[in-house]
Amino acid sequence: MAPEPEDELNEKNPRPLDEDDIALLKTYGLGPYSTSIKKTEKEIKEMAKKVNDLCGIKESDTGLAAPSQWDLVSDKQMMQEEQPLQVARCTKIINPNTEDAKYVINVKQIAKFVVGLGDKVSPTDIEEGMRVGVDRNKYQIQIPLPPKIDPSVTMMTVEEKPDVTYNDVGGCKEQIEKMREVVELPMLHPEKFVKLGIDPPKGVLCYGPPGTGKTLLARAVANRTDACFIRVIGSELVQKYVGEGARMVRELFQMARSKKACIVFFDEVDAIGGARFDDGVGGDNEVQRTMLEIVNQLDGFDARGNIKVLMATNRPDTLDPALLRPGRLDRKVEFGLPDLESRTQIFKIHTRTMNCERDVRFELLARLCPNSTGADIRSVCTEAGMYAIRARRKTVTEKDFLDAVNKVIKGYQKFSATPKYMVYN
Ligand SMILES: Nc1ncnc2c1ncn2[C@@H]1O[C@H](COP(=O)(O)OP(=O)(O)OP(=O)(O)O)[C@@H](O)[C@H]1O
Ligand SMILES: [Mg+2]
Repeated sequence: MAPEPEDELNEKNPRPLDEDDIALLKTYGLGPYSTSIKKTEKEIKEMAKKVNDLCGIKESDTGLAAPSQWDLVSDKQMMQEEQPLQVARCTKIINPNTEDAKYVINVKQIAKFVVGLGDKVSPTDIEEGMRVGVDRNKYQIQIPLPPKIDPSVTMMTVEEKPDVTYNDVGGCKEQIEKMREVVELPMLHPEKFVKLGIDPPKGVLCYGPPGTGKTLLARAVANRTDACFIRVIGSELVQKYVGEGARMVRELFQMARSKKACIVFFDEVDAIGGARFDDGVGGDNEVQRTMLEIVNQLDGFDARGNIKVLMATNRPDTLDPALLRPGRLDRKVEFGLPDLESRTQIFKIHTRTMNCERDVRFELLARLCPNSTGADIRSVCTEAGMYAIRARRKTVTEKDFLDAVNKVIKGYQKFSATPKYMVYN
């Protein structure tokens, strides 16, 4: 039979399938019971869900499953299989990088053993001098462990970024610039230093009278960098027992070295960095030893490396010269009293979140507070707010600010330590 012209057209350009065709095609290759099986499966699922809903499986407060679902037998079995490990130190690797590599481990106060690896560790994970976990039967190495670091040292890492940015620091343009040069440039563009053949500065000392923004700027730096930030208060390193402080410093730098990039900030470093002296009794001073360990560690790491040290103090003159010599802390950044422009800026920063009248003349206010620090200005702003609260107003007026200036700057002059500290800086 000769094909009809219509069919010929269809062969080249087939007619799209309509719904009946698709339904027909879908039945091809199906067994006689597939539809009913599918339906039953769906029903079973629904039933299971219903049962689960009925017995009320939900997250409990304790994180435990409902008692009806406990499987104590298998839990017990799991506990038996998974034995507690013992901590040992891998002191030597015999025939490294070969099939029959053996490991000398030292289990403290027990003995030394020559052992192999467990099934779950790869030979590349284990290095000489590492802490490892070994099982209690055959003493095979089961897991590599990180170096032991005092928890009080680990706690010093600043995990949450402080919410201070460079925008919150009024004035201090030069200081910010100097600090960023030392901290950010070597981390972001190390090749520049390599090309010139110089070593970037290892650290910065910030000094100045109290309340001029040293800690503030360090917090801004921490916020800005992606590097790990470790903040140490000088007095934290003063410990009860001899040698503890020095050990903490060592562990601190050990932890810093294990990070990709790290900034260590010693605040109030005069607590430990005081110049060495002879106390006349011939006794040696624990604090001095801690300071010497810092000196030692500063020499120990590579300047092009990933650690930067910041220090802050009020009394740079009391610090030990060894700590400050070029090559250790090369940069010294002075935080002076803010000038007029900076003071205006600081006023604006601290009133940013306050509900002020619109036309407060901050420049006039700044002019009225000569020789005052950022902390003083902040206190003025707070006091102005207090005056407004006392008068039951919702906005702070210029008059409040003027009163506050009178109270804080004039009234509290005798508490101000700034003139005294200016002598030292
Ligand atoms: N330049 C500034 N810009 C904005 N705020 C400032 C500035 N300087 C100081 N402050 C305010 O003063 C407060 C105290 O400053 P900071 O803690 O930085 O002082 P410090 O220099 O570390 O003093 P200390 O030597 O006593 O530790 C800050 O919280 C901030 O509110
Ligand atoms: Mg401070």
